[in-house]
Amino acid sequence: MRDRRGLGLTVAAGRLELLDQSRLPHVEQWLAIETVGAMLEAIQTLRVRGAPLIAIAAALMVAVRAEAGDDRDTLIEAIEILRSARPTAVNLSNAMDVLRRSMIGSDWRRALVEAADDLADDDVALCNAMGEHGAALIAGGERILTHCNTGGLATAGIGTAVGVIRRAHEQGKGISVWVDETRPLLQGGRLTAWELAALGVPYTLITDNMAAALMARGEVDRVIVGADRIAVNGDVANKIGTYGLAVAAHYHGIPFAVAAPHTTLDPACASGADIEIEQRAADEVRGVSGSAGDLCWAPTDAPVANPAFDVTPAALITHWILDAGVFDRAAVAADALREAAQRA
Ligand code: MRU
Repeated sequence: MRDRRGLGLTVAAGRLELLDQSRLPHVEQWLAIETVGAMLEAIQTLRVRGAPLIAIAAALMVAVRAEAGDDRDTLIEAIEILRSARPTAVNLSNAMDVLRRSMIGSDWRRALVEAADDLADDDVALCNAMGEHGAALIAGGERILTHCNTGGLATAGIGTAVGVIRRAHEQGKGISVWVDETRPLLQGGRLTAWELAALGVPYTLITDNMAAALMARGEVDRVIVGADRIAVNGDVANKIGTYGLAVAAHYHGIPFAVAAPHTTLDPACASGADIEIEQRAADEVRGVSGSAGDLCWAPTDAPVANPAFDVTPAALITHWILDAGVFDRAAVAADALREAAQRA
């Protein structure tokens, strides 16, 4: 396996480590992940998260096991176990398909490891391409609102929506960012704030319920978010709360962009209605947990709904920022996303 050093994942001499994102920003702890079971636990508890990065982490885990000598049946079983670790992020099943298809010929073990390495290398390039395309949309001084975490912690590279923001900042556009804290797991408040601070991008943290009021006051010029799965008609599944932001942005006439690599496109989904939404544990809503410990403020048996993602219809999205370029509504209506998925 190739050595690599990302913000949330490293491989050195065949050893895979994850930065435990459930403890950020106050504790920066790296975990050596040696078994499929440990990777499954890390993905399901969001120690590693973000649609592109969970796909790469899972793929590299299979490569680690291949190098450790696991037999073919065991590796196929690992691929199937990891495939269903989180159901909404299609990058994960797309990556597992790539690995499964690579296991051919007498040299299948080497081909499998190379396929996993290529997925990780490709993601870096896809992020850079999205960053360039997306930054070209942004005018000087824009105040950009983003949701969840879509940066180096969510990908192998500079990120999707945060990658675009980062490139615009590096180009000297003088932008600033409203960071939605992103209940219930606070990826914005814990992770995006941490990343933007390290990059020197000016940002202001807000609670999710402040976004619409800021839009009404004319203090938001653009919304850019990531995606966990994009249907061919342009509907987008992303972190819960994205749909509400899109409705508010539409009402206020604010451009609403989704940035995602082609690995997030799902040609098998005609529309968002086909996308499975992950349901998570009730305690995530009854309180919070993190490096400071657990806090439960609701009645311990309070009935809870906890869908981790929602679907934003294409009619509310103005730009799809892909590695292949920026698509508008007319292009998406003319089947540009199906073609982008097929070309990939
Ligand atoms: O539950 P998470 O933290 O994995 O959700 C992440 C998101 O919703 C991101 O917006 C999405 O994966 C795109 S990340 C580049």
